[in-house]
Amino acid sequence: SAAEKGGWSSFMAKEVAEQPDAVANTIRGRIVDGVVSVPELDEFGDDALRAIRRITVIACGTAAYAGMVAKYAIEQWARIPVEVELSHEFRYRDPVIDDGTLVVSISQSGETMDTLMAVKYAREQGAKAISVCNTQGATIPRESDAAVYTHAGPEVAVASTKAFVAQITALYLFGLHLARVRGTLSESQLAAQVAELQAIPEKIATVLEQADRVGELAHWMSDTRSVLFLGRHVGYPIALEGALKLKELAYIHAEGFAAGELKHGPIALIEPGQPVFVVVPSPRGSAALHPKVVSNIQEIRARGARVIAIAEAGDAAVLPFADEVIRIPLAAPLFEPLLAVVPLQIFAMELSQAKGLDVDQPRNLAKSVTVE
Ligand code: AGP
Repeated sequence: SAAEKGGWSSFMAKEVAEQPDAVANTIRGRIVDGVVSVPELDEFGDDALRAIRRITVIACGTAAYAGMVAKYAIEQWARIPVEVELSHEFRYRDPVIDDGTLVVSISQSGETMDTLMAVKYAREQGAKAISVCNTQGATIPRESDAAVYTHAGPEVAVASTKAFVAQITALYLFGLHLARVRGTLSESQLAAQVAELQAIPEKIATVLEQADRVGELAHWMSDTRSVLFLGRHVGYPIALEGALKLKELAYIHAEGFAAGELKHGPIALIEPGQPVFVVVPSPRGSAALHPKVVSNIQEIRARGARVIAIAEAGDAAVLPFADEVIRIPLAAPLFEPLLAVVPLQIFAMELSQAKGLDVDQPRNLAKSVTVE
């Protein structure tokens, strides 16, 4: 009903707007006096957390993209190898699991059958399992050794938005907790990451202020037949997520690529007028990344692509080559996904609306997929 939507035109619009709260509520109680401590991990004990030799993340769809983002952070902070796999692929390939393996499942609903079966299987093989879940008491957390809940609040729209940013937040808290226990980051390094995380809700609010502009862009592009998304590093899963949102909401063919992969094939798709969203890494981040993505933009622009860049405030290098620039506030590179995803969600939602489609309940999809 209209009341449940709290004045918004759709549940999705409401849930997109709730993202600052989804992050803030997921952080709440887990940073005490500037120190990350996820109480749910106490059941494991610090010795068990120090004994982990590798982490396998299992999830489907948007939740799997949250896992891909977190892989970069957990490996960098805690120096543990992390692999991310789709639950249905993991379950049926005879994966190598030993007592040094920690399985981390991610599921908004906690009822996704593919992920549930993968968790059960992993535990039968002797792995310990942690569930990152948004639904208290759901089946997957009950079937796991511990649960780290996201506190995004109920997500009604089929397209996942606020649960995604809450999942990244919870996984980052988990990664920082591990780094503290394992001693892989110094106190000052930990404090710097904590400050970055705590600043995210306000920065998401700043990105949301550009919703109208992104909406206009979507309306201009409402007869587009195909959209490509490029990103690198943590921007790569965001490109995948932007493409998924557009497929499910606007029924437009969309594909996300790792920008470095362009010349290995996908650049052949570029023809005059082809819209391409590019998630541009911060010029302040790892030295090599920013210029490489800028040169990718030049390459596709030279072939006629219509480039929509999502770039950090003040990044002037993209200006000569981009048709549109959507700005995100400055953040440490690992935290950019929490900001860059927002315009992509809004773009897909607005394009769906421009086409007169049902934003909250796209065709053929269910909110939770309870069959394998
Ligand atoms: C995202 O917009 C999707 N509708 C879908 O990919 C979803 O993220 C996936 O089905 C996993 O659901 P879960 O988080 O409830 O397990």
